[in-house]
Amino acid sequence: MGRHRWIRSGLIVAIIVAAFVAGSVVLVKAQADFRAQWARTGHANREFARAEATVETRGVSAAHCGRCHSEQGFLAWLPQLEKGNPGLITKPDGSPADEAYLSNLGLNRFSVRPITCATCHQADFKLRVTASTPVLPAGFRAAGVGLGAQCMTCHNTRNGAITWNAPDPRRYSAPHTAAQADVIMGKNAFFVPPAEAPISPHASFIGDACVTCHVRFNKESHTFKAPANVCTRCHGADVTAGRVQGGIKTLLHEVEGAIGAKVLAARARIAVIRNWDPKTDQYTDNFRVDPAQIVSVDLAEIHGQQGVKFNLRSGAAWYSQLGSVMDASGRPVFATADPIVRAGWNYFLIEGDDSFGVHNPRFARTVLLATLDALK
Ligand code: HEC
Ligand code: HEC
Ligand code: HEC
Ligand code: HEC
Ligand code: HEC
Repeated sequence: MGRHRWIRSGLIVAIIVAAFVAGSVVLVKAQADFRAQWARTGHANREFARAEATVETRGVSAAHCGRCHSEQGFLAWLPQLEKGNPGLITKPDGSPADEAYLSNLGLNRFSVRPITCATCHQADFKLRVTASTPVLPAGFRAAGVGLGAQCMTCHNTRNGAITWNAPDPRRYSAPHTAAQADVIMGKNAFFVPPAEAPISPHASFIGDACVTCHVRFNKESHTFKAPANVCTRCHGADVTAGRVQGGIKTLLHEVEGAIGAKVLAARARIAVIRNWDPKTDQYTDNFRVDPAQIVSVDLAEIHGQQGVKFNLRSGAAWYSQLGSVMDASGRPVFATADPIVRAGWNYFLIEGDDSFGVHNPRFARTVLLATLDALK
């Protein structure tokens, strides 16, 4: 009897140990797969972190860009964000971080790390930000969005809150291209009253917002790519991304055309620009232009500002930030109160989101239609 019991409990222990080992093997294997998947994504792009988040390239504004473009910056910033300060990284006493402090955090070209495992995960692989975000740099809180809160902490426009009916934004800023949280939460668009700017059912009613589509319903979860056919997991087989995207691309194109037409109509007043060269990323100040050469106008985001591309008769092009398009007396041709500035913000909001309406179909349509109205 006694011996039997020993054998039996020995067997149970062996099974438990085997199960534990198998479990860890599965976990270790999963982690290896995740690592390989992650390594193919922008999150693993160390050169990009070097370009955007180090004191060598950014000086003290590594305290700005480093918040979302590096592991060390994010981890230094998160406790501060949770205490209610979404602003630039500060020293522990609350004073602005200087280069020595930032370099010490690791925001230098030798140490900086991109969006690593530890950026999103605690040591036990739980996510760092869940359920709701604190107030974000984009000026709002995303509440009740499950694990998507982790993504939204970085993927937002980071330029403060927009007052929808402000007559003059007093700046030419473009929303940061990471506009996904704003769009899915229905935030930060001009011309649309909050009551008509819906939060997307894709944020409120699918459990984990971003994470549901980009991680959980993705066979290779840690590529963070939403599969093209993800819609069928929740909708009928006929619902595809293209169904939503076709209409939104048309509306984006119409808004760009309407803004371009307004710029073209004022072209006789254009005398001087600060010409930006997209190949070298350099500017030429006081660049004199002959407006008669301009045949059409496209929109371009230039260093965080709204910008225009002047297409010339010769086939060449000039680029300029909108605020640097001047008349002969050196004044901006387009004041910040000009409706094209608010319209341009809305254009870059929906364009920057990069899902062409999928994240928040109704909001994207409402914003673009209201923008077309405002340009009439
Ligand atoms: C610490 C900030 C941060 C967090 C948190 C974060 N991202 Fe990103 N994400 C970035 C940055 C920065 C880029 C741009 C990388 C580049 O262009 O090289 C990016 C790029 C992306 C891209 C574009 C594709 C690619 O591979 O570059 C997708 C999709 C994406 N993130 C999804 C997510 C999802 C989903 C989550 C949440 C699970 C998330 N991100 C959390 C900072 C973050
Ligand atoms: C609140 C978080 C946050 C801050 C702060 C931030 N970024 Fe980003 N940035 C992102 C995310 C997330 C992406 C990826 C967006 C996407 O793929 O749609 C991104 C993308 C970019 C891109 C790629 C744009 C493109 O079209 O490929 C550049 C360049 C960039 N950021 C520069 C900066 C600079 C410079 C700063 C500081 C002045 C900065 N960012 C501050 C979150 C942030
Ligand atoms: C951009 C944020 C982000 C990054 C970077 C990231 N993960 Fe994840 N990870 C997630 C999300 C979101 C989940 C899914 C959680 C869920 O579906 O419950 C997850 C799930 C996991 C899980 C399963 C955890 C569990 O409790 O089931 C493991 C293990 C994991 N990740 C490991 C890694 C490793 C290793 C890396 C680095 C190579 C990494 N992750 C990088 C966001 C991230
Ligand atoms: C309902 C599913 C769904 C949800 C929820 C969702 N996405 Fe997406 N997302 C998509 C689809 C589909 C695309 C378009 C993919 C394409 O056209 O290749 C996309 C596109 C993107 C892109 C640009 C394309 C790329 O891969 O570079 C980024 C970045 C992104 N999503 C991030 C996010 C973030 C951050 C959130 C949460 C704030 C989010 N998404 C929520 C489905 C979703
Ligand atoms: C994880 C589940 C889920 C996925 C994946 C998903 N949806 Fe949805 N979607 C919903 C829910 C829930 C609603 C709200 C209830 C409804 O309208 O059926 C919704 C609503 C919609 C709406 C109506 C929006 C509104 O404001 O009335 C459209 C359009 C839509 N989805 C398109 C898509 C497309 C396109 C995709 C794929 C790119 C997709 N959905 C992926 C769950 C999902």
